[in-house]
This record gives sequence, structure tokens and C-alpha cells, in this order.
Amino acid sequence: MSPLSITRTLPADATAAALRTDVTQGLSRTPKQLPPKWFYDARGSELFEDITKLPDYYPTRAEREILLTRADHIAAATQARTLVELGSGSSDKTRHLIGALGSLHTYVPIDVSESALAAAGEALLADHPGLTVHALVADFQQGIELPATPGPRLLAFLGGTLGNLLPDERAAFLRSVHDMLSPGDALLLGTDLVKDEATLVAAYDDPQRVTAAFNKNVLEVINRELGGDFDPADFDHVAVWDARREWIEMRLRARKDLTVKIPGVDLAVTFAAGEELRTEVSAKFRQEGVRKELAAAGLELNSWWTDSADRFALSLAFRV
Ligand code: AVJ
Repeated sequence: MSPLSITRTLPADATAAALRTDVTQGLSRTPKQLPPKWFYDARGSELFEDITKLPDYYPTRAEREILLTRADHIAAATQARTLVELGSGSSDKTRHLIGALGSLHTYVPIDVSESALAAAGEALLADHPGLTVHALVADFQQGIELPATPGPRLLAFLGGTLGNLLPDERAAFLRSVHDMLSPGDALLLGTDLVKDEATLVAAYDDPQRVTAAFNKNVLEVINRELGGDFDPADFDHVAVWDARREWIEMRLRARKDLTVKIPGVDLAVTFAAGEELRTEVSAKFRQEGVRKELAAAGLELNSWWTDSADRFALSLAFRV
């Protein structure tokens, strides 16, 4: 078998069907909302890469700092022979971990983007010729069947993407992680931390307006995929901190009364001036909350590391 294989677990039309369902349901309800996963077409993924380089968007740099300082410890504690990564994207931050995992045999990157998987797989194999890369095109919220690879396994879910899920979705997701692992296998989880409101809002509302463009990109995705006639200029980018639920919400606020036609789902959607469409929740965490959520899923927190400025945390947990 070639050292790089890509398995598609999603039927080719599943993504299109899921988008139609999410748009129909999300734009028919009050308040309007869409799941954040639809940001990430090729343009949206590029804009996200740009976000990670913004001075105000600290999570990516903070997480990289922790990974760089803790990779050797993670390798010694897990002895992982298989590394599974959910939402692997460019596999950029994982490179260093892969280098540190001396007994690594197989890397299983999982992403909805087949092009990202192919590029990341090729690049990794160039650096690690002995590695087997078994990529999966899959949606991490839809229960993933892992290939039979040698244990122990380490499953990485980085970037703070857990925060995109609502609390009950997080519980279901962590349960499914538990079910993918065997006793002694580990989860490496990145979570952004609760901090002062100004720092949080600045990270999601940069003066360069890159996050605004990223937010509005979901409208372009709907226009392209479903024939919609959204004019992104009709909406303002909004980022607000919900102090009670401890999450950032990104919204798109209509600048005037308007009606949008979306022929692909047979919908005409009206917005009143000032009406908001929620496009993302990005929850922020505290150690005790993470410990509890992990424990409820049968995962025991073993190590908790933060960056030098205490902005972001990396947790290592074991399936008991
Ligand atoms: C990729 C989900 C971790 O929530 O911070 C960045 C996405 N949204 N700026 C985050 C995002 C707005 C990001 N995650």
C-alpha cells in the first residue's frame, strides 16, 4: 500500500445536502443562525489562515508555543504509535508533534477538505518518509470510523475548535471521542481561555477587517452553492462577548430592511434593519469546566498547560 491514502467517508453529495438543511432551518428560525463550518471553502480557509497571523488573534500563536514546549512530554506520556487529528487543515501545528513522537507509525488527518488533506499529506511524507498517512475526508460531528492502526493512539483536536460547539454538542462530541479510543489512549485538546472582554473582542473584530471578510464569506458560499443573492455590503460584522455563557458570538447585522432569494433551497428570507444572523459561537474555557466536561465523557484530565501569557490551554486526557 502506498504510504498516503485518502478515504472519503462522506458520500459526495452529503456536504451539499447538509448545507441545504442548515440554510433552510437556520434562516427560517428566529433568531437566524448558521453553523460556523460553512465558512471554510477555499477562500474562507485562506481568510482563516490570514486571521491566524493578525496581531490581535492570539490563539494560534499561543497554542503553537505550548505545543513546542510540551511536545517531548506529550510523546513520553502517550508513546503514541497512531496520531489522529480532527480538523487537521494544513497540519501545520502538528508537524512539530509528529517530529517529537519517536514511535509514531501512522498519522490519520481528518478534515472535510480533501484538497487540504492531499497537500498536507504530501508535505508531511516529504519530511517523514517512514510515516504512513491515512487521511479521512469526514465531518468530526458525524461519528468517525477510524482505520485499524497500531495503538496507543493519540487524538488531537486543536485550535480551540471545541468552542464552536454548543454545550450539548460538546458533550456528544466528547463521548464520540471516547468511543474512538481504547483504554490508555489519549486526547490532546486545545481550548481558548476566558479573559478580559477587550482582548477577546479584539481577537474577533480586528481593525484590518479580515475577520469581517471571513464572517461575510459564508454569504458568498450560500450565493455560490445555492444561487443566493446576498450582497455582503448589506451586512455589518459584529463580535460580542456573552459574559454569562462565556462565549464570543459572531453575527452579521442587516444594515436595512431586505429580502434575499436563495433558489437552491426555494427560500426568500427577509431581514429587518438591524436584525442579526448568528454565524459562530466561540466558547472560552476554564480548567475546572474542561476537567468536568472531559470526565463526563469518560476522559480523565492528566495535564493542563497554558502559554506564557495564560491565554490558551492544551489539555492531555486519557481514556480510563
Ligand atoms: C478555528 C474555530 C478556533 O473560534 O477562534 C477565528 C475560528 N472565527 N476568528 C475561533 C475563528 C473567527 C476559530 N476556530
